[in-house]
Amino acid sequence: MKILIVGSGGREHAIAWKVAQSPKAEKIYCAPGNAGIEEYAECVPIKAMEFERLAAFAKEHQVDLTVVGMDDPLVGGIVDVFEAEGLRVFGPRKNAAILEGSKAFSKDLMKKYGIPTAAYESFTDADEALRYLETAKFPIVLKADGLALGKGVLICNTLEEAKDGVREIMLDKKFGIAGNCMVVEEFLTGREVSVLSFVDGKAIRTMTSAQDHKRAGDGDTGLNTGGMGTFSPSPFYTKEIDDFCQKAIYQPTVDAMAAEGRPFQGVIFFGLMLTADGPKVLEYNARFGDPEAQVVLPRMRTDIVEVFEACVDGTLDQISLEFEDNAAVCVVLASDGYPVQYEKGKAIDGLDAFKGRDGYYVFHAGTAKKDGRIVTNGGRVLGVTAKGEDLKSARTNAYQAVEWVSFENKYFRHDIGKAIDEA
Ligand code: AMP
Ligand code: GLY
Repeated sequence: MKILIVGSGGREHAIAWKVAQSPKAEKIYCAPGNAGIEEYAECVPIKAMEFERLAAFAKEHQVDLTVVGMDDPLVGGIVDVFEAEGLRVFGPRKNAAILEGSKAFSKDLMKKYGIPTAAYESFTDADEALRYLETAKFPIVLKADGLALGKGVLICNTLEEAKDGVREIMLDKKFGIAGNCMVVEEFLTGREVSVLSFVDGKAIRTMTSAQDHKRAGDGDTGLNTGGMGTFSPSPFYTKEIDDFCQKAIYQPTVDAMAAEGRPFQGVIFFGLMLTADGPKVLEYNARFGDPEAQVVLPRMRTDIVEVFEACVDGTLDQISLEFEDNAAVCVVLASDGYPVQYEKGKAIDGLDAFKGRDGYYVFHAGTAKKDGRIVTNGGRVLGVTAKGEDLKSARTNAYQAVEWVSFENKYFRHDIGKAIDEA
């Protein structure tokens, strides 16, 4: 088969690496890709939002299956454009990607179908939101409705902070049109878990659990980022919790989307909070997590191309997913200054150290080739993943491997997987 992957981050590198293991994959393309993905795929200089050009490329090169990794093209309707051209594509249509694209939609869906989530109100009028806050309990959570690079969520401790937040989101449009509508939500406490799943419109198969580290600094300080590191599995995600979520959250979400006339095909990422009152949904994403994919996919035994095809063909009920009985930790190497301001174009050394080393991976997030060398080309530069027989050894291995790579302004968190010690 010829397979096209759309995206250019660490997640897409992990997907390309996993697809390359499949005996079914004869040729892999990635648009636009990055310097690491080139090892497995022919990178094509078409941007992820250029749907018509991508579809034309897929037709011209007789691509059998396209896999969309990123949220923006999915929410923008890339799948609809491909399907209209008769192309096979893994990912939700626009009317289903709204599960990630609109927080107000996803909250209303959960309310309508009794799926556990934080209590909330949504607003399209800033004055109404401001009035509502006068009687609210603090802390409280404000969320811009639309996509905001993972930064559209504000946790406010006081009324003043919350009022400023409403003004930033709805009046100053800090996150652009994402702030035309806003969700105000009850603040939840507990352990966060990411559960990714494959969905074919009717059936759902969950992958092994993971935990992300969203803040930029050690000890969960600093700004929210796309994710600074992950570990898998989460020791807090027990069999009992999984049983509950399968019955009360996962299948009901898939059924709800089907009942709404928005059958979901692709990956649903459940962002959960394990609260004292049981698991609740913090958010849905319509794609693999980044850097969750970098710890989940290296542990996956099942041929991912078979799973992608089963999702597209509606035969996922015939698939059982298998994962290795071990653990993985991913530490993101970023450019100092991320997520605000950082330099690019710094030469990266030491990448060869990963070659031929079983259980160690370096996934490229923001890299490019310049004069024959691999250089930094983004805030998140690399994801260093290592496996181990348990979480602690995976963490030791990952932090060892972090030292193999060097570039100017290399920055990483030193406490990825600290929660493991509390399990
Ligand atoms: P989201 O983009 O919805 O995942 O939110 C980003 C982060 O904000 C989450 O990973 C949580 O750490 C935090 N968060 C979101 N919603 C809540 C909530 N209702 N209570 C507490 N923290 C939250
Ligand atoms: N790591 C969180 C996300 O992909 O949204």
